[in-house]
Amino acid sequence: MKTYKIITYGCQMNKSDSERIAGVLETTGYKKAIDRQIPDILVFNACSVRQSAIDRIYGQANLIRKLKTKNYKLKTIITGCVLPKDRQKFKKIFDLVFNIKDLKRLPVFLRYLERGKQIIVENSLKNENISYFKIRPRQENRFSARIPISFGCGRFCSYCAVPYTRGLEINRPAKDILKEAKAFVTAGAKEIWLLGQTVSSWKDPQNKNYEFTDLLQAVEKIPGEFWVRFESSYVLDFDDKLINFLAKAKKVSNYVNLPLQSATNRVLKAMNRRYTLEQYLKVLEKMKERIPDFSFSTDIIVGFPGETEKQFRNTYNIFKRIKPTMAYIAKYSPRPGTMAEKLFKDRISPSQKQSRFTKLDKLLKQTAKENMAREVGKTLKVLVEEWLSTKKECLGKTRNFKAIRFPSAENLVGRFVRVTIVKAREFEIEGVMAN
Ligand code: SAH
Ligand code: SF4
Ligand code: F3S
Repeated sequence: MKTYKIITYGCQMNKSDSERIAGVLETTGYKKAIDRQIPDILVFNACSVRQSAIDRIYGQANLIRKLKTKNYKLKTIITGCVLPKDRQKFKKIFDLVFNIKDLKRLPVFLRYLERGKQIIVENSLKNENISYFKIRPRQENRFSARIPISFGCGRFCSYCAVPYTRGLEINRPAKDILKEAKAFVTAGAKEIWLLGQTVSSWKDPQNKNYEFTDLLQAVEKIPGEFWVRFESSYVLDFDDKLINFLAKAKKVSNYVNLPLQSATNRVLKAMNRRYTLEQYLKVLEKMKERIPDFSFSTDIIVGFPGETEKQFRNTYNIFKRIKPTMAYIAKYSPRPGTMAEKLFKDRISPSQKQSRFTKLDKLLKQTAKENMAREVGKTLKVLVEEWLSTKKECLGKTRNFKAIRFPSAENLVGRFVRVTIVKAREFEIEGVMAN
């Protein structure tokens, strides 16, 4: 039987794409290669959010050549989020470059490849995205399921590659999402991730009055014991309807990823983020007040063109005040073809960016630990994700998405257990199983 291997570089959405790629390959008759085996098909699922991830893929060119001498049948494929400029350059390295929206056509592409042809698919067919949603994923694990509810993004934040790699936002109909969610729960899923670049902006394409909150409400009504998580959120979508729902939700998580990017309005404007710091803070305060045991993470970009030391200080001070449990801090990376790359020079030096990154990262350790410490003494429900057989320990997450570790002689992966928290570290809490 022919084998495949997929290398995933990006976010939850990218991981979800990999599960769908695996789904297509398995229905076409391929099976996952075992660990060190050289596969017949090697798929690179790219992320273009930063240049470094793309550079890492270019760095694989030699390895690919070497592997091909060992398995002459090997075909290499690149898909995922690739900018048009890189798509051209990748032609020289890969046998197949295709747009992830065309995933349903992969079996056809593979037949061409077998006949020794190289194919580059520049543009996807118009309605392919709809069929993309219909592909059955091969889940990474049975207890956690990823459901893309929208695809692409049309917000055009000035620094961001996504509108150019995935195209404008397309929302998936509610009935399809709910059908998939029910099927996952019936099959034993204990955690469902609803995914989209601005997931909270989702609206049913067949009924614009049916919004994200309505969808969450409907998912929560599916019978069974499971949690619902979602990513990434857009701050201005958090109206009273959504916040009040989250305040009383049972299955929907009380954790939200709420990217801020910068705390300076001038920078936010140059980023085309469409909100002010004041608007962000107002929403966040409401969430903290109303949602029990609320926890949040944020995304920050340091060294955006023209960001002064004073403006960075401002972001630092606001960060200190809002105290996120987690933060994804990125050094600005100009993406070819975006507005920021065209309009502004990447003026902040790598060492300045690094120094700002290090300062925020250090601060994060403090704010994270403070958040973790709030759980000590409580007994919390935990979903177990991993079992370390040598250490006899389980790793998992709480409903508000805090990482937890506790001793267990038994492998409890995929189960809900109750754990009493005894200790807090920077990014993790420790406990013992209750009763
Ligand atoms: N849709 C989400 C984020 C998508 S990209 C949102 O709107 O917030 C994930 C994160 O990568 C972003 O939040 C941002 O912090 C970072 N990022 C995106 N483009 C970047 C760039 N050009 N340079 C550095 N970081 C970037
Ligand atoms: Fe990119 Fe902005 Fe869309 Fe997020 S909202 S994916 S940062 S364009
Ligand atoms: Fe995700 Fe990277 Fe694409 S963050 S959406 S894989 S550009």
